[in-house]
Amino acid sequence: MIDTKLVRNVFLAVLFINVVYFVRVYQQEEIKTKHLALSHISSINYATDNQVEFDPKKPYHMLNTKEKISYLLDKVSKNQNNHYWLANTKIQHSKLKINPRDFLTPEDDSLKTWQNKPDLFYDPRFTLTVYLDELKTQLKAHNPKNEKTKDHLIKMPFSWADWVDLTMLNEELTKPNDQKLNCEWLQSNINKPTKYPDFCKNLMELSDEEVEEIGLSRDMLPGFIVKTSPMNKAPHKPVMLQGKAHLLAQQENPLSIIFLTKDGTYETQVSNKRQRIVHTDMFENYLDRRGINANHIEDTPEIELSPSTAFKSLQKTVKARPLDLHDDIYKMRQITRQKQVNASRELYLDKESFNYKQEQVDDQIQEYEIRLSLVEEAMTNELKYNPKVIQENKLNRHELNHYNGLKYANSLAVENEPTYYKLATLKKDKDNQDAGWHYEWRFFNGALRYLKDESWTVSQLEIREQIILDRLLRNWFRFAEEKGIISWIAHGPLLSWYWNGLMFPYDIDIDIQMPSSELNRLSKNYNMTLVVEDVTEGYGKFLIDCSTFLHHRDMATKDNHIDARFIDVDTGTYIDITGIGKNNETPPPEYDSYIKSKNQKGESVELYMDRRKHWLNFEKITPLRYSMISGVPVYVPNDILSMLNHEYSVGTKSYYFDGYYYVPVLRLWLQEERLLVLFKPEQYESSSDDTRHEKIINLIKQLGEEEKLKLLESNEETLMEYYLTHKFTTFHEVEKKFMLDHSLQSSIQDLSGNSEYHQLTSKFKMSNKPMRKSLYDYEYFERFEHMEDKTETPL
Ligand SMILES: *[C@@H]1O[C@H](CO)[C@@H](O)[C@H](O)[C@H]1NC(C)=O
Ligand SMILES: *[C@@H]1O[C@H](CO)[C@@H](O)[C@H](O)[C@H]1NC(C)=O
Repeated sequence: MIDTKLVRNVFLAVLFINVVYFVRVYQQEEIKTKHLALSHISSINYATDNQVEFDPKKPYHMLNTKEKISYLLDKVSKNQNNHYWLANTKIQHSKLKINPRDFLTPEDDSLKTWQNKPDLFYDPRFTLTVYLDELKTQLKAHNPKNEKTKDHLIKMPFSWADWVDLTMLNEELTKPNDQKLNCEWLQSNINKPTKYPDFCKNLMELSDEEVEEIGLSRDMLPGFIVKTSPMNKAPHKPVMLQGKAHLLAQQENPLSIIFLTKDGTYETQVSNKRQRIVHTDMFENYLDRRGINANHIEDTPEIELSPSTAFKSLQKTVKARPLDLHDDIYKMRQITRQKQVNASRELYLDKESFNYKQEQVDDQIQEYEIRLSLVEEAMTNELKYNPKVIQENKLNRHELNHYNGLKYANSLAVENEPTYYKLATLKKDKDNQDAGWHYEWRFFNGALRYLKDESWTVSQLEIREQIILDRLLRNWFRFAEEKGIISWIAHGPLLSWYWNGLMFPYDIDIDIQMPSSELNRLSKNYNMTLVVEDVTEGYGKFLIDCSTFLHHRDMATKDNHIDARFIDVDTGTYIDITGIGKNNETPPPEYDSYIKSKNQKGESVELYMDRRKHWLNFEKITPLRYSMISGVPVYVPNDILSMLNHEYSVGTKSYYFDGYYYVPVLRLWLQEERLLVLFKPEQYESSSDDTRHEKIINLIKQLGEEEKLKLLESNEETLMEYYLTHKFTTFHEVEKKFMLDHSLQSSIQDLSGNSEYHQLTSKFKMSNKPMRKSLYDYEYFERFEHMEDKTETPL
């Protein structure tokens, strides 16, 4: 008979030993993890491959592997014979020679000039030079200290035709009126009839009053006056032409233009009348200031226009305006620009910034209406006529735009919102697989991966795409920092940030988020602002377009999930901006425990949503961390990993996506064909694609310096990409050690007192040179100049 007491005691003893054992093991694991974390930090190494010294007199084959890599990077940086021209991002074509005669009114009408020719002339260097010079003249005369209170004194004419390349319309504009293509032609090859037959009116059916309202004579209009998007699918050409026709004759002007500089901004108001430069006296005045008499155009000499010269002269005459401290409500610009290397660059948001609801909408409307009624009384009641009251209470044009939006949004229930943003919707065919859902319809200029004419190649399109994304990011974050607007990267860009601190080469979506009250502030101050890139870096222009319905914070029923867009007007690509904040929706069950614990502690429940269905809580967002993506300083949210793991189940784990592999030795995503030089077919071939990818991934994870060198030697594009990115990706590796937990499940770490981390973030600065070429240089010049030495790589 077994002694049950003994059995019980033995069992208890074993249990006890086990518990003790596991507790010890667990403690040891903890200690190990901590050691690991510490050794991680102590392994911080900012050294980059280009810093390895090599003897320039030694022949290449005598160098060791690291020296060879350094040698190759040096070769790209020296750019001998302009061989690595793509890695040289300085503007190459900054000057334009013209004959002023072509732009002036001739005494003899038979001389055709741009002024009375129906076709359009477009060159951003012409536009920018004339505007910057005019800006300088006006500022000097009316606002030499560049004070914000005097902004209304600076104003300029505007026509989209000077700012966006609409010359594709020339083919139509130069035809006799009765032979021009009409609205029916735009709809002659569509997927289904439009629901908006009034989207377009034929030129021939336009009344004289309508022509007058447009502000251009019949000869200067195409046969179709496009009022809005038909919202059905058509081939490229009609879709491009309809956007361009809308810009020429219908699109309202921006309210203001902001010129970015490396330190501060210049601004001008824009009149709401449609007027091209050649139809104003701006250019004549420009010549006049240079002693060229526009009345004797027969003997005007050729002149050279240079935006960067005009820009420098402007900067010398009147200083750019830094952000007003009162407008930097989160002290963002002060924090990011501080010189202290050990100081934190984290940004702590407050809960109020996420509280934008009906109450705030009502309050703003009321405030505007009080001001409007004061103005009205001061104007109409002669006993109370008071210019001071008018001056103090009148709404500026941004405020009026904001007020109208508030009123209109407030008059509609969420279910009744019309679609705000319209996209270029394309018919797919054998040459085009792009449905167009990535381009704002008005500025659409050909899909990113569509060869719109014979002059393009597939690899040129890839380069163009990278340029566009790089410049969008760079200009948004420069604008946002200059204006103290808080935003952080989200969704796709956050995931690609996670990997290597760059943008994915295969993703054309850029998403950013901001607190809902910040979104309202953006729309109030900057809606319909055209932001002009620092002209010494490129000639990009971006329109800030805020949806009327951003005042609604509940789930959008149909389309209005996006609250604002930063649109590249040269291409129609954009950054999607969504506001995050309180709303009246029911949070999903996964937040039950968060709500419960907040309630137990008697703390307020801070659960936020955008207008789609992305929920976040306050603690996941703040403090925002200062970081970089593709060399552009940005903010990222606090708990990146839980956000990413929630949104992308394998996104942070999968080394393969859509033909690209993540290659840890280079910290780049590369296409398969660039990698296969390293392996023998029997190492990876398989009848199943998944197995093949898996095999290649396993091989990639084993790569060392030798193979890295081989990748750089075997493909010049890989080499240039590595040259452009390796410093940033090195920083990112260091950064990840501070920010991410080893379990890779969450990333909330208290870094506020970590001065080593702060020293790292003090290195994050907008580089003086953009990472990619200027789009104008590339698209209009350089891709033609380097036809012979281009190396084709398939998509
Ligand atoms: C900043 O960091 C350096 C190096 O770690 C240290 O010597 C210095 O005392 C720190 N300065 C401040 C103000 O904390
Ligand atoms: C922004 O401006 C556009 C164009 O005037 C207008 O339709 C829209 O309602 C404005 N957005 C907001 C939020 O006021």
